[in-house]
Amino acid sequence: MLRISVMNTKGGCGKTTVATNLASYCACQGYATSLFDYDRQASSIRWLKQRKSGRPPVHGVAAFAPPPEGVTRSWHMRVPENTRYLITDTPAGYGLVDMEDRVAETDVILIPVLPSFIDIHSTADFVRDLLLIGKARAHNTQLAIVTNRTRIRTRAVEKLERFLQQLDIPVIARIRDTQHYVAAAERGLGVHELAERDAHKDMESWAALLDWLDSGGEDIGRSPRLLKNASR
Ligand SMILES: Nc1ncnc2c1ncn2[C@@H]1O[C@H](COP(=O)(O)OP(=O)(O)OP(=O)(O)O)[C@@H](O)[C@H]1O
Ligand SMILES: [Mg+2]
Repeated sequence: MLRISVMNTKGGCGKTTVATNLASYCACQGYATSLFDYDRQASSIRWLKQRKSGRPPVHGVAAFAPPPEGVTRSWHMRVPENTRYLITDTPAGYGLVDMEDRVAETDVILIPVLPSFIDIHSTADFVRDLLLIGKARAHNTQLAIVTNRTRIRTRAVEKLERFLQQLDIPVIARIRDTQHYVAAAERGLGVHELAERDAHKDMESWAALLDWLDSGGEDIGRSPRLLKNASR
């Protein structure tokens, strides 16, 4: 089982969008997929509730909630035995203790980032915290960036990509800015499940992401340049 957490302390950067679309993409490829939601806003769980029973299934767990009475935490958190991908959605403003726990329990951290000055800089702080406080290196957790709401050849995207090169963390997928994501979210679907004419453009992003995950990624937790620049 590959454990993937979608994290960024910055709100609204696309954590739930990435978690739910990746979950639906993996499920549609025929893989047993589970989706944990650690966010009290329960957006991923709400997405799952909208998903029609005929769609390729995603097993959901409201990980933020205490187990129902008479149920142990481990039973509450169990996933089907054949689960191939366990995808976790996390809240904005994750505390440092929670962050360390999450890093210890995950193989890959996907970090969505928007092409804006504020988001770029708060993401850099978050990545430093992951490496220094979350001890991503010690746990051998792989980090990867997903740029979200990108429009090709805008100056903001160019700036974002230049900045990300300095972090030495691979950009493994670029997600288009399109209302398809909003429409899909309402129906508990991934954007690739919509019958839109240009859906193949979005499909490429998710296929690239899954390819990278399946290839085992790169060992980029050990980023000397980032550690040298780290302020704490
Ligand atoms: N690529 C995209 N194109 C268009 N809209 C998008 C895209 N990605 C996200 N959105 C929209 O932006 C909003 C925020 O996205 P999302 O909920 O995924 O962010 P989040 O990081 O999970 O937020 P939070 O920190 O509140 O949990 C949502 O309304 C979502 O539908
Ligand atoms: Mg969210």
